[in-house]
Amino acid sequence: MHGRLRPEQIPRHVAIIMDGSGRWAERRGISRIEGHREGLEALRAVVRGAHELGVGFLTLYAFSLENWNRPKAEVNELMRLLDHYLDVEIDEVMRNGIRLRSIGRIDRLPPAVVAKVRAAVERTRDNREMVLVFALSYGGRAEIVDAARELCREAELGKIEANSIDEKIFAAHLYDPDIPDPDLLIRTGAELRVSNFLLWQIAYTEIYTTDLMWPDFRKPDLVEALLDYQGRERRFGLTGEQVRGGGDGDA
Ligand code: FPP
Repeated sequence: MHGRLRPEQIPRHVAIIMDGSGRWAERRGISRIEGHREGLEALRAVVRGAHELGVGFLTLYAFSLENWNRPKAEVNELMRLLDHYLDVEIDEVMRNGIRLRSIGRIDRLPPAVVAKVRAAVERTRDNREMVLVFALSYGGRAEIVDAARELCREAELGKIEANSIDEKIFAAHLYDPDIPDPDLLIRTGAELRVSNFLLWQIAYTEIYTTDLMWPDFRKPDLVEALLDYQGRERRFGLTGEQVRGGGDGDA
């Protein structure tokens, strides 16, 4: 079905902005909440699909810091869906050897949900097949601010010197330094924005957008995104010749 994909070039880390569930519902004359419920079906299918395709890390933007400002009923439903996912899917997640992690200011989530996220992270910690990262109560700028705060605290304690801070040390203070930078960022919902997602980490990430609304996104659409990715040349600031091994000798 996806024979054209080159297995040796599956992106190690795929991050997804799951946008469009609200519009998907509004177009059908049903409530936004129904859209999020269908969005959860897409999420299930994509987690399964990414695992089958050999993706190493899958990060999903499930709830942003800005999302706290949505109507209370919508926020509550999103919390309920997360809670439900953790209840219903955790056994399959375990069976598939998937390790769960979270990034974000999760202390703002309802205590029962925080406890469930922590329990799931703990239960799956030895799984090695794929890492599934939920960005929850997450903001890219907030993550950078939180890293800066942590570095300042270490400086105040005399553990670190300001001049010794470089990109590597800074990155080591982000929410989860064990997660590599995304190779591919997918955004559904026909918008061309980054929306405060993984700002530090996406410096050299390839971006793929689609007009599909998130509830309509399934494994074949993920395959389509990976095929597009495999057709790109990642240069990381170098010339095409350098990257392809031609070398121009004076770099
Ligand atoms: C943005 O679409 C999407 C969200 C705010 C939530 C995404 C989460 C899920 C689909 C999965 C279920 C939830 C959890 C927490 C596991 P939007 O509502 O902004 O769509 P719109 O741009 O069409 O209004």
